[in-house]
Amino acid sequence: MTTKESKTALITGASSGIGQELAKLFAKDGYNLVLVARSTDVLNELGGRFWDEYGVETTVITKDLSEEDAAQDVYNQVKAKNLSVDVLVNDAGVGLYGLFATETDWEREKSLIHLNVLTTTQMTKLFLKEMVERNEGKILNLASLVSITPMPLMAVYAATKAYIYNFTQSLINELKDTNVSVTALLPNATDTDFFNKAGASNTKVTENLDNPANVAKDAYNALMKGAPKVIPGGLVNKAYEVMSYVAPQETMAGMMRKNMEPKVEAQTADEKGNKAALTWGIGLAAVVLAGAAIALVYANSSEYDKVRYRYKAGKIKSGADDVYGDVKDSLLSGLNSIKDAVSTAKEVVAKAKETFTEALA
Ligand SMILES: NC(=O)c1ccc[n+]([C@@H]2O[C@H](COP(=O)([O-])OP(=O)(O)OC[C@H]3O[C@@H](n4cnc5c(N)ncnc54)[C@H](OP(=O)(O)O)[C@@H]3O)[C@@H](O)[C@H]2O)c1
Repeated sequence: MTTKESKTALITGASSGIGQELAKLFAKDGYNLVLVARSTDVLNELGGRFWDEYGVETTVITKDLSEEDAAQDVYNQVKAKNLSVDVLVNDAGVGLYGLFATETDWEREKSLIHLNVLTTTQMTKLFLKEMVERNEGKILNLASLVSITPMPLMAVYAATKAYIYNFTQSLINELKDTNVSVTALLPNATDTDFFNKAGASNTKVTENLDNPANVAKDAYNALMKGAPKVIPGGLVNKAYEVMSYVAPQETMAGMMRKNMEPKVEAQTADEKGNKAALTWGIGLAAVVLAGAAIALVYANSSEYDKVRYRYKAGKIKSGADDVYGDVKDSLLSGLNSIKDAVSTAKEVVAKAKETFTEALA
């Protein structure tokens, strides 16, 4: 039995990954659904399951959203069925792995930009207008943690996600006097078919993936609250965010490139054992690096800039408190390779110091 009979959520990219996990949450919460993707069978199967389990109705729209005016066609089909969309989730998106200059294919990049940017923008344009007229509605746009950092070897993909994040944040301001909210979702690398489809399944980043159901849960809660953005997952993801606000783009690009390089085939047992420690190393490095950046730049700043840096330092301090708290917990629970994490952090900070000293020379 539906609990929100008049409410309908339209989700693009609902046939797998984060989109499918979001669809499950909406169905469980009693929303009728409009599911859009190319995999008709999967969407029909989901619709059947949602009817059996939750009594909600699902309308399936089979569409290749990378086609010209795909969004207009979806909108027309929704109107023809006399449906009103209360929540729009722009989830469908793809990536593409390789060096931009010499390896990636332009036709695939063009299609990626169409799907990730044009369709998302046009879907938002078409459905937002009605939401504003009704003075009610919610939109969730799939950005990414790479919206706020460069991503060598997936350059075009990261650029599309930067667009989505920036676009969303501007809309939030334009809509501030309405009851319509737009939320940007910025997941870190997540365990879906995304990297496989992008040709990046053999990269280091895939060694440490977030759970799509957890990502969807955090996203759903943030969307329902009308939050401007959500970064799902733990402190390491938040540390990345803090670092991306203060570290130079070259430093971030270097770090991200390492993540995107091929996996080292035969990892030793020691290397595997140190993975958790390295994760903490990144977290620690992020906050210390951010602190080092602030300290170095602060000394050379105008009074106006000093106020800005003091504000950033406050944000970093709360991030640092969280990370150090968890490191302490790990120590208490016997994670004895934490000293490796600290030395990793020290190395990164030493590199950061070099970078900043050069920048300020
Ligand atoms: N996984 C990650 O690490 C990660 C991190 C940050 C952000 N994101 C973003 O999260 C979103 C969902 O990705 P995911 O990780 O859940 O990947 P996924 O499992 O590969 O899901 C992608 C979804 O997009 C749909 N899609 C792809 N191309 C399409 C097209 N041309 N027309 C219509 N639908 C299309 C797919 O459906 P069909 O194939 O059935 O058409 C599928 O439902 C994407 O926007 C991605 O950029 C992912």
